[in-house]
Amino acid sequence: MAELFAGVGGFRLGLDGYVDADRGWRLPAAGPFETIWANQWEPGSDRRQFAARCYKMRFGDDSVVNEDIDLVLDEYDAGKRDIPSVDMVVGGFPCQDYSVARPLSQAAGIEGKKGVLWWDIYRFLRIQLDKSQDNVRWCLFENVDRLLKSPAKQRGRDFAIILSCLASLGYSVEWRVVNSAEYGFPQRRKRTYIFAERNVSWDARERLCHGVMARALPIEVPQEVMTVQIPTDPYDASESFNRGGKVSPFMEAGVMVGNSALTCRIEEAYHGPRRNLGDVLVPEDDVPQEYFVPEDQVGRWEYLKGAKSEERVNKSTGFAYRYSEGSMSFPDSTDKPSRTILTGEGGSGPSRFKHVVRCDDGRLRRLVPDELDSLQGFPAGWTDTGMTDSQRAFCMGNALVVGIPHLIGKEIANDIENN
Ligand SMILES: C[S@@+](CC[C@H](N)C(=O)[O-])C[C@H]1O[C@@H](n2cnc3c(N)ncnc32)[C@H](O)[C@@H]1O
Repeated sequence: MAELFAGVGGFRLGLDGYVDADRGWRLPAAGPFETIWANQWEPGSDRRQFAARCYKMRFGDDSVVNEDIDLVLDEYDAGKRDIPSVDMVVGGFPCQDYSVARPLSQAAGIEGKKGVLWWDIYRFLRIQLDKSQDNVRWCLFENVDRLLKSPAKQRGRDFAIILSCLASLGYSVEWRVVNSAEYGFPQRRKRTYIFAERNVSWDARERLCHGVMARALPIEVPQEVMTVQIPTDPYDASESFNRGGKVSPFMEAGVMVGNSALTCRIEEAYHGPRRNLGDVLVPEDDVPQEYFVPEDQVGRWEYLKGAKSEERVNKSTGFAYRYSEGSMSFPDSTDKPSRTILTGEGGSGPSRFKHVVRCDDGRLRRLVPDELDSLQGFPAGWTDTGMTDSQRAFCMGNALVVGIPHLIGKEIANDIENN
C-alpha cells in the first residue's frame, strides 16, 4: 500500500493496525495490508513538517518521503527517484477546483493545475499503471462531504471529473458520505469515502446494497435510485457536466461501473454501541491549568457561541452589512458525540468552533490534545511527538476517524479472501 498526503498516518493505522505494548496501544489490522511507501509535505518551511516528524517517530525514519508530492513525481519522471509498485493507494485530499481546460495535444494525458492534489493522485496512479497493469488494483480516498456538490456554479462537476478520471483508468467506484457518529464513533464528522477497484464487472445495484461500503457501514435498503451518466472524457466532465445545475445529481451513496453511476440517499442502519464526547475525557487532575477558561473570558466565549444579528462594516471597503448566526451549545454536551474537530481547535483564544466542556466542579475547560487524538480514534498521545499543542490540534483537524478506513478495509479484505 502507498499512503499519499499521509498526515500523521490515519489510513495506515486503520488498515495496517499498530501495536506498542509498552504504551498499551493495540490497534488491530483490518486485513493483510502493509504500507510500504508514504508521502507527506505540509506546504511552507521545514519548520511546518511536524506531521511528517510524527509519522517518522511512529513508523520509522524511512517510513515517509517528506517532500512536495509534485516534486517527488517530477523526480520519478526524471529517473532520479524510484517509487515501489503497490497494490493499493490511499489518501485524504482537499476539495479544490478540479476543472481542466482541454490542451492542444492530449498525448501526454490530462494536465491538471499545479497544487491541486487530485491531479497528483491521478499522476501517481498513471505512474503505477505504466509500470504494470497489475499495480493498484484498489484505491481508498477521503474528502469532505461537499466534494459531491462543488462547485456552486456547476454542482457535482468536481466529483464527475474524479469519477471520469477513475473510469478512464479502468476503475469501478463505490462512494459514501459517512457521518462517523452514526456508526458509534464519539465525533460527528461527515466525510466522503471513495473506494475504487480495477478490472471488475460489478452489478451496480447489488453493489449499492451489498458492496464494501454497505457491508462496512450498513444502510437501509434505498427507496429511490437515480442514474447519472459520467462523461468518458474528464475534459468534457469539466466543461459540460451539469452546466448551470443548481443541484448536484450525486447523493450520499453511489456506485459507478463503466461510465454509468447509480446513486441514492441513505439512512444508516447501525445497531451497535455508541460513544460520546464524555467517553474520551481524561481525568480533570490531568488537565493542565492553561486549558481552563479564565473567569474574565467566559463572557467572550458566550458571546462567540451565542446567536447574533448585528451591523458590521467591512474595514477595507466600508461596506455595511448585517451579520447573523445562530447559537451553539455552550458548553458542549458530554453525553453526545463531539462536533467536527477543525484544524484551529488548539490555542487558548476564545472561539466559536473550539470545544469547551464543564467539569464536575463547575469550571469550564477546552479539550487537551490527547482527547483530540482519541476523538479521531488515534491512541491517546499519538501526536505527542515534540510538537506544540496547537500543532497537535492542527494534525487532528486534518486527520480522519481511524475506525472508518478500518471498517472499510475489513470488507476489502473479505472480498480479497472470497475471490
Ligand atoms: C486531509 S490531510 C490528510 C491527513 C491524513 N489522512 C491523516 O490521517 O493525518 C492532507 C495532508 O496533505 C498534506 N499535503 C498538502 N499538500 C501536499 C503536497 N503538495 N505534497 C504532499 N502532501 C501534501 C497536508 O500537509 C496534510 O497533512
